[in-house]
Amino acid sequence: MRFDVFTLFPRMFDSPFAESIIHRAIKAGLIEIHTHDIRAYATDKHRTTDDYPFGGGTGMVMKPEPIFAAVESVLGVPLPPDVPIILMTPSGRTFNHALAQALAQHQRIALICGHYEGVDERVREHLCTDAISIGDYVLTGGELAAMVVIDAVARLVPGVLPPEATQDESHASGLLEYPQYTRPAEFRGWRVPEVLLSGNHAAIARWRREQAEARTRARQAQLQHTAPAPAAQLKVE
Ligand code: ADE
Repeated sequence: MRFDVFTLFPRMFDSPFAESIIHRAIKAGLIEIHTHDIRAYATDKHRTTDDYPFGGGTGMVMKPEPIFAAVESVLGVPLPPDVPIILMTPSGRTFNHALAQALAQHQRIALICGHYEGVDERVREHLCTDAISIGDYVLTGGELAAMVVIDAVARLVPGVLPPEATQDESHASGLLEYPQYTRPAEFRGWRVPEVLLSGNHAAIARWRREQAEARTRARQAQLQHTAPAPAAQLKVE
């Protein structure tokens, strides 16, 4: 699976993917992450990638021309219909495990990282096929968000992890994960639940199921008590 990331800060992507599971997956040829510097596609003398917002207001807006040029140059024209082109923005739809699973079905994904006050809306309307937020908070740019999406999708690519690793985990089964313990059986006076030391596999499976259900219920109750912010407080990008 191939990820193409369009960003003003390609070096931000170097170290997170130079470690651990994703690094191994890249070395094994299971995934490719290509970063593309949007600035390299700006054509003026100063390589300008942002400009003042029409209508006034604070901050700068990313210009459409270098972004279109970068994406069209890398993906080709006409744009391949089977490659999602995703804008990372706090006003996108919220990322979750189901969306990670859907994205993992594709051979190739393009991610565009917004920065500053936002991206000219024509990028979202006429270039992107989707817009994704990783949560209801505003980051300084879409880079960290793109890394989160890449990490969550890449680990679902066949071969990156053993198949059983992605079956039991939180969100995949609709249940949150049960608590896990390792040695020592007692640490600072806190003992591991006795059932886990019992060797009784049926009892362990039952306990894990109950724990997962209890956690899921507690989390759902918490979500219900999180009142949405009044519309007036929501920043509209
Ligand atoms: N850019 C800034 N904040 C973001 C968020 N929460 N999700 C995706 N992209 C972003």
